[in-house]
Amino acid sequence: MTPRKNKIITIDGPSGAGKSTIARLLASTAGYTYIDSGAIYRGVAYAYKMRKNEETIGELLEGLPLSFEFGSDTRVTLAGEDISGEIRQPDISLLASSLSQEQIVRDYANAVQRRLAGQGKVVLEGRDTGSVVFPDADIKFYLDARPEERASRRHNELTLKGSGPTLSAVKEDMEKRDRNDSERAIAPLVVPPGAIVLDTTGADVQGVLRMVLAHLEKEDHP
Ligand code: DC
Repeated sequence: MTPRKNKIITIDGPSGAGKSTIARLLASTAGYTYIDSGAIYRGVAYAYKMRKNEETIGELLEGLPLSFEFGSDTRVTLAGEDISGEIRQPDISLLASSLSQEQIVRDYANAVQRRLAGQGKVVLEGRDTGSVVFPDADIKFYLDARPEERASRRHNELTLKGSGPTLSAVKEDMEKRDRNDSERAIAPLVVPPGAIVLDTTGADVQGVLRMVLAHLEKEDHP
């Protein structure tokens, strides 16, 4: 399925709602580029954790040697070193969530996203891609699921990758991040105006992908 024009498609929602799986599949089905905006916040968090002296976040962001390759998998490098695995660790998840409350960090992440997505043919996934970064996106989705299911999906994902936090630790981290992400003053997680809301509780990946594709089809052939 290839959409008729070079669209900007956004998918927002809380962690564990299935956004990245769906965004990745949708991008490959449509021949689009998948942009995982969380990886930008995670890359900044990792660089902040590893900084040598007590630089402020503003100082750190100036000329920060972070680069991103958004393909079927996201590759993040810091000064040439591949940190794609490190940025997925639970301590980086929490640090990313807390640093993402700073406007200067959001400005940095927004600029990266706008630079990469300018030509369209992208699926962007995150917390504010449809509400703040691309409010005029061609089509916006908001994915959600019940918290227990989100936690158990996240837990399975981490277990498969070989890191082993318990389900209750994952649930606790997720609740903390949900609170940070939804209650922050700047660009909180919200349902973007005009977004199509899909509850993925109990749905399998192919089922959610079919729903998303049906909405895109309707856009092209109303
Ligand atoms: O999607 P993720 O779990 O990789 O995101 C990590 C953190 O980055 C998330 O807790 C909040 C922040 N984030 C954000 O504030 N806005 C985005 N568009 C994406 C991520």
